[in-house]
Amino acid sequence: MPRFSPWYGTVAVMLSFAGGCALAADPVDPARLAASRACLSCHAPAARIVGPSFKEIADRYRGDAKAPAALARTIRQGGKGHWGQLPMPANPRVTEAEAAQLARWILDRK
Ligand code: HEC
Repeated sequence: MPRFSPWYGTVAVMLSFAGGCALAADPVDPARLAASRACLSCHAPAARIVGPSFKEIADRYRGDAKAPAALARTIRQGGKGHWGQLPMPANPRVTEAEAAQLARWILDRK
């Protein structure tokens, strides 16, 4: 029988810590989400296509505490009049959690 080693306890603590981190991470990469929800047919990271670039959006709302919630709503319900004549259509396929994740990701573009 091996004598008790403090290593066993240390390894167990490290494993449970790693598991907790994996659960806390975003489930889907937001860049892949933007592609799969067709956002990229109208938006590009740095150039205007149909809608404003993600960088322009991040620049406009930087430091605005209400922006994450407001943009998440726009992403799901659509919007108009903030950037020009063209409206953004609603995206009913995007869940609330996905919209919040996309809004945070867009606001993080620099
Ligand atoms: C059919 C083209 C189109 C698609 C698809 C589209 N957008 Fe837009 N988006 C626009 C236009 C046009 C605007 C500018 C609307 C305005 O002037 O208020 C806009 C504006 C935005 C804004 C800024 C809103 C504001 O109030 O300033 C965000 C954020 C955004 N889009 C994110 C997304 C995301 C995320 C997706 C994918 C789920 C998406 N868009 C899909 C055309 C599109």
